[in-house]
Amino acid sequence: MKITIIGTGYVGLVTGACLAEIGNDVFCFDVDERKIAILNDGGVPIHEPGLAEVIARNRAAGRIRFSTDVDASVMHGDVQFIAVGTPPDEDGSADLQYVLAAARAIGARMNGFKVIVDKSTVPVGTAKRVSEALAGELARRNEAHGFSVVSNPEFLKEGAAVEDFMRPDRIVLGCDDDENGQRARAMMKQLYSPFNRNHERTMYMDVRSAEFTKYAANAMLATRISFMNELANLADEVGADIEYVRRGIGSDPRIGYSFLYAGCGYGGSCFPKDVQALIRTASEHGHDLKVLNAVEAVNERQKNVLVDKILNELGSDLTGKTFAVWGLAFKPNTDDMREAPSRPLIAALLRKGASVRAYDPVALDEAKRVFGLDLSGTAEFERLSFQHDPYEATEGADALLIVTEWKEFKSPDFGRLKAQLSAPLVFDGRNLYEPSEMRKQGIKYTAIGRGR
Ligand code: NAD
Ligand code: UGA
Repeated sequence: MKITIIGTGYVGLVTGACLAEIGNDVFCFDVDERKIAILNDGGVPIHEPGLAEVIARNRAAGRIRFSTDVDASVMHGDVQFIAVGTPPDEDGSADLQYVLAAARAIGARMNGFKVIVDKSTVPVGTAKRVSEALAGELARRNEAHGFSVVSNPEFLKEGAAVEDFMRPDRIVLGCDDDENGQRARAMMKQLYSPFNRNHERTMYMDVRSAEFTKYAANAMLATRISFMNELANLADEVGADIEYVRRGIGSDPRIGYSFLYAGCGYGGSCFPKDVQALIRTASEHGHDLKVLNAVEAVNERQKNVLVDKILNELGSDLTGKTFAVWGLAFKPNTDDMREAPSRPLIAALLRKGASVRAYDPVALDEAKRVFGLDLSGTAEFERLSFQHDPYEATEGADALLIVTEWKEFKSPDFGRLKAQLSAPLVFDGRNLYEPSEMRKQGIKYTAIGRGR
């Protein structure tokens, strides 16, 4: 099938590469010339395990192309995926300017029946607005091509995006009931059929329910995390260990083990913005989503938990102290720094007068870029340095902070750490180590919900 992807970011690039992998002829379009140049030079602009190999294989087979040529892009695909960003607007609602610009770009050029797929995460009612934008452009051109807008939200996780796309838990398709909707549904069914070989994973529903499903999924996952973070803070107070509690409740199949890890807050480009957008949608309809408001508030507070623990241990003036930080990306296996908990944490330490020596296995370049934007021109920025080795960061530091649970941090050389740190202090925002083991090592260990 001929596919166009509009927006070649985390979701668009993975979608394009994976649809090429199963034999489609894919054209990836982006307005970002830098991204397309990197791709056309054989590179990949993001760190995502397995993605470079899939792209290289399909480029060699002639099944995937990258372009900034909007005319050629729209001409190419019978199915046009819109996978552009939907960042939060000032009031927290999803900013749809990029989605609607993509819709207008399609409408201004379409030359026959097309299926337009909303892959971006968009509020209920957006498909209707996309339809109106397309129809407006067709009317302006005095053309009358058929089309249908399908909602096909994406559930992949960064760091496991290729695996998630190739082996999805479910494929949600929201289609209209009219003739064009039925035609679109048949085309989408055919496109996704290779993912359903052993087990039917496609769920058909109306467009609005599909749009809503995406926000409901992220809101539910964010709720589990904030709930566990709140329990972890209480566990610290009452002298319980949240890790035992996690295992104790996760073994109940009605609860399950996943997304129960307490930590220093959820980040990333989606949970924070999608929780806010759903709260905003609700308030537009006169509803106050009390649980979700609390989920957001708990997460905001949780991003300060490590700083509070540090101030509690070392006092409120951190002038002259140096902290090693391991892990900058918002989660392991990605270089994505959007809403990463490391950002407010490092900014707070610098504000308190400390110096920070930061290390991340893959996000250093992105970290330099975002901290440059966040802090450039401030005296604080001069107290932040980036190291290319974890033990370079800890050499002579007053404490080690762990913010992202990269695998390489799971079994460090504790002897070396103890010898390097000026005092054996570890603050762990991801609960990587056993407190009893750390005691044996002679390291003062403070984690999340594992006792004081
Ligand atoms: P991204 O910022 O990585 O990529 C978006 C791309 O769209 C950028 O490259 C940008 O240049 C391009 N773009 C913007 N306007 C354009 C236009 N008019 N025409 C062509 N290209 C344009 O964003 P992302 O993380 O891939 O997220 C995209 C959408 O998918 C969002 O709605 C997000 O909520 C959703 N989503 C993201 C993830 C994830 O893990 N990142 C997972 C599921 C859903
Ligand atoms: C999340 C969802 O998991 C995806 O299904 C969804 O498609 C995506 O958002 C999206 O809509 O963009 P992602 O943000 O890539 O994926 O990463 P997650 O693995 O969900 O982690 C998000 C944040 O929650 C990270 O900061 C992570 O550290 C934190 N987290 C996760 C916890 O603190 N505890 C947990 O138990 C799990």
